Amino acid sequence: MRHFLDVYELSREEFWDILSLARRLKAQYREWQQNTALLRGYVLGMLFQKPSLRTRVSFEVAMLHLGGQALYLSPNEVQLGQRESVPDVARVLGRYVHAIMARVFSHEHVRQLAHHAGVPVINGLSDYSHPCQALADYFTLWERWGTLEGRTLAWVGDGNNVLHSLLHGAPLAGVNVRVATPPGYEPDEGAVDVARRGGVDVLLTNDPREAVRGADAIYTDVWASMGQEAERAERLRVFPPYQVNQALLEASGNPDVVVLHCLPAHRGEEITDDVADGPHSLLWDQAENRLHAQKGLLVWLLVT
Ligand code: CP
Ligand code: NVA
Repeated sequence: MRHFLDVYELSREEFWDILSLARRLKAQYREWQQNTALLRGYVLGMLFQKPSLRTRVSFEVAMLHLGGQALYLSPNEVQLGQRESVPDVARVLGRYVHAIMARVFSHEHVRQLAHHAGVPVINGLSDYSHPCQALADYFTLWERWGTLEGRTLAWVGDGNNVLHSLLHGAPLAGVNVRVATPPGYEPDEGAVDVARRGGVDVLLTNDPREAVRGADAIYTDVWASMGQEAERAERLRVFPPYQVNQALLEASGNPDVVVLHCLPAHRGEEITDDVADGPHSLLWDQAENRLHAQKGLLVWLLVT
């Protein structure tokens, strides 16, 4: 049985199969305002321990467009690991639905769900990674550039879950990654190793200008992720030199540089309004493409 817990578990062929499916389903939806009901009768259970706009709505709408249904299970409803153990939730939910998407704190919990559910499990974000985001992001860049091979993505900010998934996907996409974080906020070494072992040129630096020099894309995310609220004051003190603003875009030296952000954004912190809303921004295409990339993922997981 297939799961989607982390991008590095995909082969290159599988990664491109999902993106190609996404492209076909997006084109079909654009042309007909509907998709073939490939998932008619299928039900996706969506477990959330954290808030969401994009992940919740894009999965739910993806299932509806494909003829299936999704169930939203809020943090208070299931109380994963508190009201009931994670394996027991997995065993029960797996008897009701065809697949489970889960947004959790501990990455170990999506692993446990996958181990016990008996149906495909999708990681809808954990403290460690956000693979659905990386799928949509590489899809967005592929759409924009036509090819990804040899392009350079610069990450500026916190070495967090979204960066880990981009690193995991970099060997499959053929993209090189330059990372600027404050000292002490570097990405997980294992995620960097996955990229390097896959032949990716990874630069780690504390200098945002060095990271963006010559880059094709600049990516940033919030300075304090969900679950790090207690560190917010300290992070607000450390991260301001890592703001993605017009001056940093100019430091890339690339007039065609594009800017990505997984959203939600804290405007005026990690990204300025003029950049988020400016001509280099791909933020809204990225958010839209969560829908299309996840349609590709769901069809690949459930019916191919
Ligand atoms: N990018 C993303 O996952 O957004 P949500 O937290 O709103 O789902
Ligand atoms: N790094 C952010 C991503 C939100 C989609 C977080 O985990 O809160």
